[in-house]
Amino acid sequence: MNARKWIRQSHRWLSMIFTVTVLGCIVAVSQENPAMWVFYLPLVPLILQFLTGLYLFVLPYTAKGRGGRRAASET
Ligand code: HEM
Repeated sequence: MNARKWIRQSHRWLSMIFTVTVLGCIVAVSQENPAMWVFYLPLVPLILQFLTGLYLFVLPYTAKGRGGRRAASET
C-alpha cells in the first residue's frame, strides 16, 4: 500500500476512533464524578486527523496527487 492510500485509510479509521472518544465524553459527563482525563482523549485522534487531513487537502494541488502528470490545461 502506498503512502497516499495509507494516510487516507488512517484518516478514515481515525474518524471512527475520534467518534468513539466523543461518545465516551458524553457518557462521562452523565456520571456523577467523571475523571477529567477522559475529556482530553478526543484530542489524540483529532490531532492525528488534522495532520492526515492537511495532507489529504494539499494532495490535489501537488503533481503526485494529479497522478504525476501535468493537467492538459497547464501545458
Ligand atoms: C481536523 C481536521 C481535519 C481536516 C483538515 C480534514 C481534512 C480532510 C480532507 C482534505 C479529506 C479528503 C477529501 C477528499 O478530497 O476526498 C478528508 C476526508 C475525510 N475526513 Fe477529514 N479532516 C479533518 C477531520 C476529520 C474528522 C474530525 C472526521 C470525522 C470524525 C473526518 C472524517 C473524514 C472522512 C470519513 C473522510 C473520507 C476519507 C476517505 O476518503 O475514505 N475528518 N478530510
